[in-house]
Order: sequence, then C-alpha cells, then structure tokens
Amino acid sequence: MAERLVILGAGGHGRAVIELLRDLGGPEPVGLVDAAPGAGAMLGLPILGTEAALPGLLAAGVRLACIAIGDNAARAAAAARLTELGFVLPALLHPSVIRAGSAVVGAGAVVLPRVVLGACVRVALLAIVNTGAILEHDVVLGEAAHCGPGAVLAGGVRVGARALIGAGAACKPYACIGEGAVVGTGAAVTRDVAPGAVVGGVPARVL
Ligand SMILES: CC(C)(COP(=O)(O)OP(=O)(O)OC[C@H]1O[C@@H](n2cnc3c(N)ncnc32)[C@H](O)[C@@H]1OP(=O)(O)O)[C@@H](O)C(=O)NCCC(=O)NCCS
Repeated sequence: MAERLVILGAGGHGRAVIELLRDLGGPEPVGLVDAAPGAGAMLGLPILGTEAALPGLLAAGVRLACIAIGDNAARAAAAARLTELGFVLPALLHPSVIRAGSAVVGAGAVVLPRVVLGACVRVALLAIVNTGAILEHDVVLGEAAHCGPGAVLAGGVRVGARALIGAGAACKPYACIGEGAVVGTGAAVTRDVAPGAVVGGVPARVL
C-alpha cells in the first residue's frame, strides 16, 4: 500500500501539489488542512480542518506531510511544527523533471513539472522549484527559497534562504541573491542582491 500523506495549505500551491502527487502515483494524499479551512473538498480531496487535525492523522498512520504554503517564512515555520509532531516531509519531484545524477534535493522540497536541475545543483530543504524553471550547473537554492515559474538561474547562482525569484526572472552566472530577498517577475539580475532587498526590472534595480 502506498504511504499516505497530508497536505498543509489549501491554496494555489496546494492544488499544484495534488496534481504532482497524482502524476507521480504516490504517496497517496488523504486530504488537506489549512489555517482557514473552507468546508468541503479541493480537487476531490477532503479538507480535514486546521492543524489541530494533524495528531489524529499521525495516530491513524499518516506519516508523511507536504507543506504547500507559498509564503517562504510561513512554510519554514510550519515545517518546524510538523516535524516536531513527528511527520516526515519527503522531497516531491514531478516525473517530468530533468535532474542530473549529481543534483540533490532536500527534504520537503517540491519540484514542479518540466523543471531542469543541472549538474551538481543543490535544492535545499523546503524549497519550491516552480514549473519550467531552469537551475543550471552548481546552483544552490537555499532553505525554504522559491524559484518561480520559468525563471532561469545560470550556472553557479546562489539563492539565500527564504528568497523568492519571480516568474520568468533570469540571474547571471554566479550571482548571489541574499536571504529573504525578492527578485521581481521578469527581472534580469546582473549584480548580487542584498539580503532582504526587493529588486526588479532589466537590468534589476532596487524597487
Ligand atoms: C517585485 C514585487 C515583489 C513588488 O510587489 P509590490 O511590493 O506589491 O509592488 P507593487 O505592485 O505595489 O509595485 C510597486 C512598484 O514596483 C513596480 N514593480 C512591481 N513589480 C515589478 C517587477 N517585477 N519589475 C519591475 N517593476 C516592478 C511597479 O510598477 C510599481 O512601480 P511604480 O511605483 O512606479 O508604479 C512583485 O511585483 C513581484 O514581482 N513579485 C514576484 C511574484 C512572482 O513572480 N512569484 C512567483 C511565484 S508563482
């Protein structure tokens, strides 16, 4: 029997995770929990309540969880709570991902369809690599960071913990993006980005 998994977060990223799990064929999602659970279901899966439902699920043998929260800091905080409870957070990679043999992906990371992970890429714990992103050789995507859809991280780019790379952005080789920084949608990063900075445009400037 496939291992069972609960999804934390019944929003847009939760829907992406449900589709990923269906394409992957397991683990089997049993439902979702959310801070503000609506009644009913999402894509055919039951909404099981708030995090208060989690100990009961664990006791019923649901050992795995996926934190499907787009906000990076909130995802990291939720992961600490769930691992403390005893859940295991597997890395989830869509079957269409092209992953070099030397690329590594940390626990709780989610890698969505058609991503390319090149040689020696490191995707840290709880990171999200969104649809169609390309992480070239030696890229490091930090803990609970998020690389948006279609973004391109050229060789050797380093992205700090909880940073967000917006959809379609591109970062030049070996650029460093600081912890918690935000790179706007469509930006072209030609210089290092300071921790916590918000940059955008072509070339990217502080907004
Ligand atoms: C950069 C960003 C964080 C700014 O968000 P915000 O603080 O809400 O900013 P606003 O939308 O109020 O815009 C503020 C200014 O920045 C500009 N701006 C916003 N996003 C920009 C971008 N990506 N590139 C260039 N300029 C941008 C706006 O035009 C506006 O300029 P103005 O004051 O001259 O009118 C946001 O626009 C963004 O790009 N987020 C990335 C989201 C994403 O791609 N996520 C992927 C996950 S699916």
